[in-house]
Amino acid sequence: MPLQHLTGTAPFLDLDLKIGPGVFVPRPETELLARWGIGVLADSDRPVVVDLCSGSGALALAVASERPKARVYAVERSEEALKWLWLNVSGTPVEVVAGDIRDVELPSGVDLVLSNPPYVPAGTQVAPEVLADPPEAVFAGEDGLDLIPAVIDRAAQILRPGGRLGFEHDDSHVDLAHLLERWFESIESHSDLAERPRFTTAIRKA
Ligand SMILES: C[S@@+](CC[C@H](N)C(=O)[O-])C[C@H]1O[C@@H](n2cnc3c(N)ncnc32)[C@H](O)[C@@H]1O
Repeated sequence: MPLQHLTGTAPFLDLDLKIGPGVFVPRPETELLARWGIGVLADSDRPVVVDLCSGSGALALAVASERPKARVYAVERSEEALKWLWLNVSGTPVEVVAGDIRDVELPSGVDLVLSNPPYVPAGTQVAPEVLADPPEAVFAGEDGLDLIPAVIDRAAQILRPGGRLGFEHDDSHVDLAHLLERWFESIESHSDLAERPRFTTAIRKA
């Protein structure tokens, strides 16, 4: 059993998120993506931010806490995860959007889309604590790319020109530029603390 299930909380940047069975335990590598997102909003006045595949709300709540003028939406499909998401956003301005990232209603003219979707290739040998995460939060088909193209398409649809996308992925996904090039430019790969490719960022073309 993961320690976070025993304590009922998981640290994420300066936050303590309520978590338990049914929701993905936020990981330290995702803090790097959160920091990147908070950084790119440094000069934005009242930005609109969407966290696709929000789970416990880690990315959405980190942005809302560091950028209090932002309007932040957290999109999640799983009924079980949504129970934890509602708990965590309670008393914050983060707006929960329940449903599938492919067809929920979202604002347009968005400044930033962040996402840590399921991305582990099926059959990958994972650490024992990963088995306590809901499988639909972790695995995404044979190559781990079942959902990432939908994240990219949805981001392309809602971002304003010049808006930014940052999403986490498996370290076997070394070059995802071909999925992004149609709608995005300035595509950059970022490594995690173990120097493995961990998240990719891009800017929506005009
Ligand atoms: C890896 S977890 C990430 C949770 C959170 N962003 C974090 O970093 O801790 C992926 C989340 O995506 C959700 N999810 C999977 N497919 C989805 C879909 N099509 N639409 C909305 N959410 C989805 C899962 O239920 C899970 O909560």
